[in-house]
Parts: sequence; C-alpha cells; structure tokens
Amino acid sequence: MRLLSSLVLLIAAPAALAVKSQDFKTCSQSAFCRRGRALADRAELSTSWVSPYSVTPSSISISPQQASFTAAVKSSLYPDINFGLDVRVHKDGVVRVRMDEVGGLRKRYDEAASWALVAEPDISQDIKWTVSASDVRAVYGDRKEIEVVVSFEPLKVALYRDGIEQVVLNGRGLLHMEHFRAKAAVAEDAPPAADDAQVVMQTNPRAWFEGEEEDGYWEEKFNTWTDSKPKGPESLSVDITFPNHGHVYGIPQHATRLSLPTTRGADAHYSDPYRLYNADVFEYLADSPMSLYGSIPVMHAHSAQSTVAVFHAVASDTWIDVARPAPGATETHWVSESGILDLFIMPGPTPDAVFGQYARLTGTPALPAQWALAYHQCRWNYISSDDVRDVQRRFDEADMPVDVFWLDIEYAEEHKYFIWDKKTFPDPVDMTHDVEAIGRKMVVIVDPHLKRADNYPVYKEARDRGVLVKSSGGENDFEGWCWSGSSAWMDFFNPGSWEWWKTLFQTQPRGDGWTWTESTVDTYIWNDMNEPSIFNGPEISMPRDSIHYGGWEHRDLHNINGMLLPNLTSQGLMARTNPPKRPFVLTRSFYAGSQRFGAMWTGDNLGTWEHMAVGVRMVLVNNIGGFSFAGSDVGGFFGNPDPEMLVRWYGVGVFSPFFRAHAHIDTKRREPYLLDEPYKSIVRSMLRLRYSMLPVWYTAFREASVTGVPVLRPHYVAFPRDEAGFALDDQYFLGSSGLLVKPVTEKGVTETAVYLADDEVYYDYFTHHAYRGASAGGKYVTVPAGLEEIPLFVRGGSIVPTRERPRRSSPLMKYDPFTLRVALSTGGTARGELYLDDGETFAHEEGQLVWREFSARTDGSARVVRIGSRDLAARKPAEAVDGVALAQYDGANVYARTIADVRVERVVVLGLAARPTSVRAGGDELQWEYSSGTAADDKTQGTASVLVIKDPGVGVAADWEIVVEA
Ligand code: GLC
Repeated sequence: MRLLSSLVLLIAAPAALAVKSQDFKTCSQSAFCRRGRALADRAELSTSWVSPYSVTPSSISISPQQASFTAAVKSSLYPDINFGLDVRVHKDGVVRVRMDEVGGLRKRYDEAASWALVAEPDISQDIKWTVSASDVRAVYGDRKEIEVVVSFEPLKVALYRDGIEQVVLNGRGLLHMEHFRAKAAVAEDAPPAADDAQVVMQTNPRAWFEGEEEDGYWEEKFNTWTDSKPKGPESLSVDITFPNHGHVYGIPQHATRLSLPTTRGADAHYSDPYRLYNADVFEYLADSPMSLYGSIPVMHAHSAQSTVAVFHAVASDTWIDVARPAPGATETHWVSESGILDLFIMPGPTPDAVFGQYARLTGTPALPAQWALAYHQCRWNYISSDDVRDVQRRFDEADMPVDVFWLDIEYAEEHKYFIWDKKTFPDPVDMTHDVEAIGRKMVVIVDPHLKRADNYPVYKEARDRGVLVKSSGGENDFEGWCWSGSSAWMDFFNPGSWEWWKTLFQTQPRGDGWTWTESTVDTYIWNDMNEPSIFNGPEISMPRDSIHYGGWEHRDLHNINGMLLPNLTSQGLMARTNPPKRPFVLTRSFYAGSQRFGAMWTGDNLGTWEHMAVGVRMVLVNNIGGFSFAGSDVGGFFGNPDPEMLVRWYGVGVFSPFFRAHAHIDTKRREPYLLDEPYKSIVRSMLRLRYSMLPVWYTAFREASVTGVPVLRPHYVAFPRDEAGFALDDQYFLGSSGLLVKPVTEKGVTETAVYLADDEVYYDYFTHHAYRGASAGGKYVTVPAGLEEIPLFVRGGSIVPTRERPRRSSPLMKYDPFTLRVALSTGGTARGELYLDDGETFAHEEGQLVWREFSARTDGSARVVRIGSRDLAARKPAEAVDGVALAQYDGANVYARTIADVRVERVVVLGLAARPTSVRAGGDELQWEYSSGTAADDKTQGTASVLVIKDPGVGVAADWEIVVEA
C-alpha cells in the first residue's frame, strides 16, 4: 500500500525541494494577462488616454420601482458591438454593477454569482436615480451620506461617502470587455503597425487599445500543452481605485501579508500580479502572489476614516495588480480570462459593516458542530484499523484530548474513494464505532477524481448518468491522471449529479444504486484535490477547453469548480439522518460562498518557520474573506519538524479556528504523544487549553454565523482607526472575547513584542501580569514567550467563559461546569458572552439554545463590583444577518433545561482595586481567596490582583448576581 502511493507520488510530485514555478504561468506567460498589463502600461504613459466605453444617455431605463437602471454601453472602438449595464442598490447599500455583451456572437459566462450568492439580494426601494446630461446618480444612506455616480462619457462608476471618493471603477480607463469576434474578420481588420504609441493612439486607437498583434487570441501554448481557445479572446479587465485608502486586504488565497504589498509601480514588492486560479501548487512559496488552492475575489480597502470593499463575482483565471500611487491611495487592476463584469461595491463604513454586507451576499460561515472545533489528528496515512485503534489508545494513555481521527487516501482500495481496502481495513464499521465510543468522530477522504475502473460502482454510475466532465469538443469523458491513476472527474455543474451524489453517503442500502453502507452517521468527509488537481494537466489542473454541463468551458468556471463538491457532500451528510446533524466537510479548494459548507485548510505547507508564520496570515486573510473556519496543517505537511518547531506549531493550531495535525506519507510519525519531555507536557497543556476554550470558540463561531464578523480579527478590525495596527498580521483577537494572541512562529524565541492598541489594561492569561496600552498610537510591550508560553492576553473589560476539567473528548464536556475570568477594565467594568446549544443538530434554529451575557459593573466609588448574568437571547431576538430571528425563543427551552444543573464553579476577578470585605450571592457569603497584585491600583505593569470565588452556587444558564464589596 505504501509502495503504491509512493509510486504515484513519484509520478505526481518529483522530489524537488522548492515550488516548481515552471509548472505555473506568470502573467507574461498568460496571453490575456499580458494584454491587460500591456494596456495598463500604455495608459500609464499616455497623457491623453480616455476610456472608449460610454453610456448612451437615451438608453437609460429606470425600473418601475426606481431601484435599478439599465443602460446601453458602447465602445467607440467597436461601434457595432453592444454592451448592457445594469446598476442596482441593495437594501443594505451595496451597489451591484453588471456589464455584459448584448447580442454578441456568443454568450459570456454569467453564472458565477448564482453559485456564490446565498440568495438573490433584496433591492432597495428607497433609491431615486437622477438622470442628467452627463451622469445618473443616487443619494442614499441614513444620513444621505452615500452617493453613487455613473458618468456617461467615459463610463465611470464612483461611490462617495460624505462627499469623499471611496471606490472608482474605470477611473483609469482600463475597463475592457473583449467582445466575441470571428477569427477571419479580425485578421482582415488587422491594424497597421506603427512605432510611436501616440501616433498609433491617434491613427488607430483600436490597435493602441488592444495591442497591435492578436496576442494569444486563438490558441495558447504553455509548456507541452496547447489551449485550443475555440471562443477566441473574451477577457475582461477593470480598474478599481480606492483614492483615499492606503491599505487593501483580502483576495485569498496567497502566501503573503495581510496588508497586500504592491505589484506595480516603482517600488513594487512583487513583479507579478496576485493571481486567483485555483491550483495544487507543490511545495508552494511562503512569500508570493502566486495562485493557491482557493480564490475569494473580495478585497477590503481601509483607512482610519473608512472601510469599503469590492467583490467581483467572476470565476475565471484572474490577475490583480495593486499599486500605491501616493500614500493613502490604492489602485487595483483586475484582469480575468472570461465572464461578465459583476461587481459588488460594499460601502462599509467600518470593517464590521463590510463583513455584514459581504455575508448578506455570500452567506455567513455555517455554525460548525462543536466537536469540529476540537483537535483533529490526521496523517497520510493511518494504515489500518488497528493503527487507528492504536493511535486512539496512545492519545488516551498520554491523557491528551482529541476528537477526530482522519483517514487519508490509503484507506481506499486502489484509491477508489468510499471503497475500503479490506486487507488493511477489514472492519471499517467496527473500527469507526470504536472511535465513536466517547463521542469521537471519523473523517474520511473523498476526492472528485474517479478511477476509471468497471469494478468501481461510483465511477460506473457517474459515467452511465453522463455526469462526468467532457474533454475539449464535448464528445468524450475527460480522462486525466490523479491518485487513482487514469481517472474521470465529476461534473457537479450537472444537476443530474446532485441528488445521486448525496445518496452515496446514505448508510442504508438503496434499491437502485450504490450507497456507503460500510460507513456510519458519525463519519464525516474531507474533500481534497478539487481545484481540480490533475497531475498530467496544464498547471496541474484541467485543460481550459474541457467542457462542463451547459457547454461551458472549464476556463469560465474554474475557480468555482472546487466549491460544488463540499456543497453537495455536506448536503449528503445532512440527508443521512432525520433530523439532520450538522455536517463537517473539509475542502482544499474554495470560492466566495464556500464558508457555507464547512472548513478549509491551507494545503500542503512545508515544515518551516516561514510556512508556520505565513499560515497564520493566510488564516487571518481567509477570515477577512468570510471563511472563518480555516487552519493550516499543524507540524507542516512536508518535512520532519524538530520538537521545538512542533510545539510552536501546536501553539499556532490552538489559536486557529480549524485545528488539525497532518503529515505527508514520507514523514516520520509525529503524534504529540511521541514527543519527549518537556515537549510532550507542553503540548498536552496546549491541547487542554484549546479544550478549555471551546466555549469561547463556539461563541465566536455563533457570532460569525449570524453577523459575518469573522472569528479571528486582526487589529484593523478591532481598532479600525488606529493606523499603527493596520499592517499587523501576527497577532489577533478571538471573536468578541477580548482574547488577544500572538503565536510565536520563530525559532529560539524567549520574549516577543506585543502591540496594545488602546489605553486599556491587558492581563496575561496565565500569569495575570497586567500590561497597559497607550492612549494615542498604541504601544509595544515585551512579554515572555518561552517555549511553554503562548503570549495570550485578556483585554480589560472582558469576561471569558471556559471549561477547565481535562477530558478525553469534547462531547464528554457537555455537562462540565464553567469558569468565568472577569478581566476588569481600567474603569472597573467588564462584559462577555456565552453561547451554547446541543452542538450537533439544527435545533438551535428553533430556539433551543442558551445565550448569556455576563457583566461586571461598579458603583462610582469602585467599592462595590456587581458581577451578573442575564439572558441575551431574550433581549436580542432579532439579531440575525439572514433574518432568522429567534422569534420562538423561550428561556426555558428544552436545551436550556438539559443544562439547568450546569454550574459556574469558579469566578476569577482580575484587577480589583482593593481586597474585598465580602463576596455574596443571594445574600450568602461565598468562599473566596484574594491575592493583591503589584499593579492593582493603576493597572500598569505588574501583577494584577486576583480574586478567586469558589463554587458560587450559580447556574451557567440562570440569572444571578454576585456582589463584591471592598
Ligand atoms: C494532497 C493533500 C494532502 C493529502 C494528500 C493525499 O496533497 O493536500 O493533505 O494528504 O493529497 O491525499
């Protein structure tokens, strides 16, 4: 078995120790990117350049309710070609700008938004468009502060807030929708060559604009591949400028910084644009604008005054240049191979507002099952049922918590997914039940390539149903090479595949087809290689002229291809039981909207410090892109990390939303119980820390699933006005909990500098040392960061609920008592939230939940601190981004009753000004201990005072008050 996979590996991934950049195009090797950049270069040099696109004023048609308008657009270079513009404003102020070719030779791919959007957005009914001779405009917003202006000649769209330009489309005149054309006709029309660009512009503006040669119009070669390009050129470029924003974030996935470095201009950091073309990049670079496994074309622009964002629903290969023409301004240029312009402008004005606007478009992250937030143990591969049992036993013996064991491709006979290799896994259902005994789960891999073997029922059924991708020309099923050797690929764009794929996951036999009877309803799924990865394909993927359902070429929809598999797989998992359980699907490839279906990870990282560090950033950027449930392989996929590195990697994982250790088949075993002391004990403490904080993670996920505000929040999100924090991407906040973490990602570190943005006290989570930030511009403090220390702080003003009893798996914690850490602010107050539900069904959608607010208030003299708990769900019934109000909420719901006996077993109050004289609940004096700190009075550097209230006799789901008097 191992031999076989090593053999495949040799074919797939030769042993070079660096990215094989020659496998992937640079912009200069991609004809449409070359054309796009060349136009930008010519425009840059020209002083008289104006965009050829204009709106025909007489064509403006405002919809009966005034909400949107359409208009004809012409290019002065091609008077016979027609384009249509459609502009509308959504209820929440988002502006959608669509432009398509009308009555062209062919239809452009216009379905990307239909996959990305969670629903058709509600159009505002309050908009009044005013048409003048030169533009059409609308003013809206609570204060009428937003104005959108569509200028006619040249076509330009600008969004203003309070009179200040926020977002400008085509301000630089780079908009270009290459219309469909016939090959011969263009050749006859070929413009004469000239040397001087200005002369060309005047005498032959068409040649100036599009280039004097038909660069890669009808065929394109890359390495040994030829792309047949039967539709000819159809690229789409648009410049998007943020004249008043100095930072842009987003457009995952790239191994780069959070605040995107420039790719154009004199001091450009990278020479190539950021690329969005989902790809399986072997041993990817830790600092590069190269494309990776997933693409979310959403970009935030940020300044101390404002946050705005754009989302371009385009699914083809896309290159994005970023330039900073002046400090505080950002120019971007988006060049896509095909598709329509379908751009959503989010007016902000804050990061949180943008997150809500984007979530209303593409959906919020699904609320995961609570166990999915615990620790996952994976490896390529646990090689047999007995191996799995052994690993489980050794975790238990080492007293290390773990919730999920994973099986990679070697469980499957000849890599025919779903089909167990009975030589090594003779008893899959029994094995899975053994794992499930204490509520643990199994995750098994299912990839979208199907071995072309007649004895493989999944392949045979897919072939017979005609739901496989076709090769160029559309006649035959596409054939390529992946783990399973010669394979065919599922075409999930074909509706005929949908119901069928879902039934595969049924654990009961079905009369008319194959189902996975050798599985259980607590087996969950890992979808990999869905870019798709094709070992012998161009750029390790599918030829662009392959054909999908509806006749679309692969090039048109490449970047959304990967999201359909987890979408359908998660539906299949839900359909296994009635009522359904929350699904869990991990995907490697993703697009805007993928957050609705499960988790992602950052693919095949290397066991290096650089990869560890960039993994943190990539997960942060994914959070910005709406996809909070993200993580990277703990330990690094390739290589054998030394104990120090492995320990630090666990420190990163403990503070990643998705926390999974994984390793390549050629690596040494590195399950944490194999570590020597002191490393083993350090990792055990880290795992326990994660488990103790599951309530915090779950509460943060619940918030993200309702509001779209991400689980991990970099500084610019938490402190949008603090410029000094805008580029920070190595420390971040966990939800609204007030927890600030800076994972250490460097070798040999004993201390590190942590940035505190505001004049507040930050308590070291473990030592209770108090650090004080500064009022203006923040400040760095040096904190201890030895191997056994994770720099973790609670911001004053927060209450953090945890569960601190060590358990072997998270379901065993269901009725465990809580600890509340009350971190008093400089003003002596604090608040926090706790969200709980059954953690695995959808009963919370019917109000089966507990949502508490904890608070600490002080009277004027600070001599009395009142710590209380109250029902938040009852107070905020309608707080939901998707309109799912908790209308039926009843504080005494069935779930709440199941935890009626769950107590708060400890309240830890940090930063009291003086030793209490009494601590009471309901009139009774409680047991408590107090240690005065060295920093208790002014809460500057020093140890904070700590009051520990033991067993206050209050329920976690009940209303109560504890009164501390000094
Ligand atoms: C891909 C995945 C990796 C997995 C391997 C075998 O390389 O990224 O996580 O272990 O395939 O399935």
